[in-house]
Amino acid sequence: MASPAVAAHGSHQPENPLVAGLERLPVAPTALVIFGATGDLARRKLLPALYNLAHEGALPQHFHLVGVSRKDKAHEHYRAECEQAIRAHSRHTPDEDVLRGLLQHVRYVPGVFDDPGVYAKLDTVLDGFDERAGERLNRAFYLSTSPDFFPVIVGQLGGSGLSRRAGTEVRVIIEKPFGASLEEARELNARVLSVFDESQVFRIDHYLGKETVQNMLAFRFANGMFEPLWNRNYIDQVQITAAEDIGIGSRAGYYDHAGALRDLIQNHMLQLLCHVAMEPPGSFTAEEVRNEKVKVLHAIAAPAPDDILEMAVRAQYAAGHSGGEDVPGYLEEQGVPSGSITETYAALRLEVDNWRWAGVPFYLRAGKRLARKVTEIAVTLKPVPHLAFSQDGSLGVQPNQLILTVQPNEGVTLRLGAKIPGARMIIRPVNMEFLYGTSFLSQSPEAYERLIMDAMRGDPTLFTRNDEAEAQWCICDPIVTSWAHTPGLRAGGLPQYEAGSQGPADAASILREGHAWRAI
Ligand code: BG6
Repeated sequence: MASPAVAAHGSHQPENPLVAGLERLPVAPTALVIFGATGDLARRKLLPALYNLAHEGALPQHFHLVGVSRKDKAHEHYRAECEQAIRAHSRHTPDEDVLRGLLQHVRYVPGVFDDPGVYAKLDTVLDGFDERAGERLNRAFYLSTSPDFFPVIVGQLGGSGLSRRAGTEVRVIIEKPFGASLEEARELNARVLSVFDESQVFRIDHYLGKETVQNMLAFRFANGMFEPLWNRNYIDQVQITAAEDIGIGSRAGYYDHAGALRDLIQNHMLQLLCHVAMEPPGSFTAEEVRNEKVKVLHAIAAPAPDDILEMAVRAQYAAGHSGGEDVPGYLEEQGVPSGSITETYAALRLEVDNWRWAGVPFYLRAGKRLARKVTEIAVTLKPVPHLAFSQDGSLGVQPNQLILTVQPNEGVTLRLGAKIPGARMIIRPVNMEFLYGTSFLSQSPEAYERLIMDAMRGDPTLFTRNDEAEAQWCICDPIVTSWAHTPGLRAGGLPQYEAGSQGPADAASILREGHAWRAI
């Protein structure tokens, strides 16, 4: 039976000739099981992504979704919740036929994740899909629960025999955070790999699904002009920023155990760094791309305890003003334990000790409740060696800078020096810009759309490999440990920054002489 979602195939294909290369890649019939089916991530990202895939005719001919969560509820009840989530968060206005077609193939299985009965029920539901389809569907298990349940669910999938099935592909998609320390990441890897082969495992880092992050590789490896400059001889510093204007919202339970370093730097920002610093892979196969990224991570020395104070900074937001309103400080947010020393801002200075990058500082910073939302990579070249202009003319000369903006206003900006029109030779910086929106006249798909498709197709290129996750932790673990053992640097807690500001003044202390943070 072909679902109406599929019957709509083709009717929503993008008509924009500038994105004509986006033809659908084939994906085998699949049953997708979401553990944590009623959680925030499922509602805000996963269900809307699935709808958008259906809307564009990209889901396979036979596609079924099973939600698994603790609360007891009927299939209809869960379908109504899915519909609500899709209407609230989808980037496409739902087409009623497509939506109905998708929801018709949704089922719900209630239960606690450590109960073998849940997996027996799942088995029956999944077998039912196969019978009706007259073929064995691939199976993908999406772990979108609290990380405490990852080992539990993986163990139960193994114990129930659901982790392997002759004649079909079985895959497991694991959300972040992948462990809260190096030790935990290792334990989790060992657990996962005792049940699944690495080729079945898809560790999510949603930044890798962002168009602009993938474009960094196109930018570097499809253009010859930057490569000769892309090294320590010409590049003075790299700044990677992931600033958010939002606070922690209702996520205190998760965030207070994570903090900015674990939440954004250990995964997303180190991925961005790898995209800037990696060598060109021989080919764009999953293994070669990931091999190159792992080499970068291995070239970053784990910080020594004595160095941490001068290469890492943390702080917490205090009350302030954001988005036109007064907002509370972190310690006043609902659910945050009093006296918490969890950082909502972290900045690091790292070095990639290899032939290409030795000596070039990579500055990383991430924070909540900053002046605005912006994710960008700014690569600053060394100053020109000699200024031949008169004193006045030279004043406006600044080093060239290349800014890759991941979000918002996705694009690339090149800062150049140009003469101001007039009789005198006076120079000031100007920008050459490429903007996705204007060049391709299209709306980029959400990261989760790409990642769910790739996982269902079995392409792991945009997922974190086991050794990659551990290599990321090798860099962050000493900092996490040091911070845990030196709570509150001054009486009363961590240094604070005002909500809506540029972050803590102290962040400048990790910069080399002559460097300054870019304004957020
Ligand atoms: C998530 C973090 O991984 O990334 C969140 O847990 C953060 O705290 C989010 O807000 C940022 O993602 P994006 O796509 O909005 O930059």
